[in-house]
Order: sequence, then structure tokens, then C-alpha cells
Amino acid sequence: MIPRLGINIDHVATLRQARGEDYPSIVVAATNVLKNGADQITIHLREDRRHIQDTDVEAVRLVTRRYGKPLNLEMATSDEIVDVAIAIAPDWVCLVPEKREEKTTEGGLDLTQKEAVEKIQLVCHKLKKEVEGIKISLFVEANEHNMNVASELGVDAVEIHTGDYAKAHLNGEDFEKYLSDFQKVKAIAESLKLGYHAGHGLTDESVLPLLQSEIFEEYNIGHWVVCQAVFDGIGQVVSNLKECFRNS
Ligand code: PXP
Repeated sequence: MIPRLGINIDHVATLRQARGEDYPSIVVAATNVLKNGADQITIHLREDRRHIQDTDVEAVRLVTRRYGKPLNLEMATSDEIVDVAIAIAPDWVCLVPEKREEKTTEGGLDLTQKEAVEKIQLVCHKLKKEVEGIKISLFVEANEHNMNVASELGVDAVEIHTGDYAKAHLNGEDFEKYLSDFQKVKAIAESLKLGYHAGHGLTDESVLPLLQSEIFEEYNIGHWVVCQAVFDGIGQVVSNLKECFRNS
């Protein structure tokens, strides 16, 4: 089976927020992404609203509905964000840890802390009760403990944090240990009937060994896609602009 490709478009909003303008449009980005074969849109509504805004979540929800593709909302367990999720009713929610001072999500949820697990349980219960058919994944590191807790919580999937693997790959370091850990934990996830997703830090190169080993059923990739879009598009934009200069 071909794994699903979720595209995270947060950083289209980062560009927009950097200037406080209305462009680039998140709706056009979501539309282009889906028209070009992505299987889902992923967005992260952070508590500090540094990129995606509440209105973006509503707008992207309309696009995913129009194209009949899932919306995966990454979010922390704060009550305010849970209320937004209930109002928007995404197909998937991916629960992530969130720190205000971090540049990006730095790792998976800590499922060794009783209080944190209880909070996740409450949020899962509320989301399942309020949003019919919603599916929930937990963003976690690949280990047996996390699979067992995820299973006890009754979530639908885990999204394995691939950031450290991706960094090792990027730096030319040995990444085999990550691959074998991901494989080992996959067997546990499968035995517990948990979906097995991946995300964070992946590029076209670092995702390849994962695809070739057929480890995950879904990948969520964002930052690299938006970065690469600059190079795949900047030449055309400049040539169009130059053409406009010539013709004016
Ligand atoms: N999955 C999760 C849970 C994330 O927090 C992020 C970053 O928002 C991604 C996937 C996408 O990561 P990246 O932008 O590094 O590709």
C-alpha cells in the first residue's frame, strides 16, 4: 500500500505573519497541495498563534471538505485549543507537547508523567464525545512504553517523532539505529492495532529510507516542503515579473 502523504502548511502562514499581509494565501496553498496529490492537510494551531490563526483553521477546513480529504489538526491539550478543535471538527487531531519558547515541536509527548497522561485522557474523551468520528493520534518517541500508554488511552494512532532521525540523516551520521527502533516499535503498534504515522524534520532524502523499509503508513512533512517550494518556484516568479517589465 502506498503510504499517505500529509502536507503541513504552517510555514506558508509563517511567511504571511512575518509581514502581517494577507498573502501568501493559506487557502490557495491548501488547494494547490491537494490538487497535486497530497492525501491530507496538516496544520498546527499553536497557543501563541505564531503562524496558523483561528480563521486559517476554518478556511482550510472548507478546502479539505471541498476536496474530500482529511484535515489533521496538531494541537496541545489546552482547553482553549480543544474548544477550537470541537468547533472545527477536523478528521484527525494529533496531540503534541508545546512550549512557548521552542522554535518548533522539540519531541514527543512525555507519557511517563501521570498528570500529563490524565490530561490527555480527558482531552481524548472530550474530543471523541463532541466530534463524531474524530480520530486521534499522539505525537510520541518510538518506544514500547508509549505504545502501551497510547493503547490504554484508546487512541487511533501514534505519530512517531522523526526529528532526531532526520537530523542524523541530514548530518551524514549513522541512522540505522533509528530505522531498527522504528521497525521494532512498529510491530508493537500493529499488535495493539494502533496506526503508525511519522512526522517532523523530514526531507525528500531522509524520507526515502523510511519509504523503502515500508515503516510508516502516513508521513506529515511541512518545513522542507515550503523551503523547497521557494527553489522550485522562484525562477518562474522572476521570469514572469521580468516579462511584465518588458511588456509595460
Ligand atoms: N508532525 C508533527 C506532530 C509536528 O509537530 C510537525 C511540525 O509542526 C510536523 C509533523 C511537520 O514537521 P516539519 O515541518 O519539520 O516537516
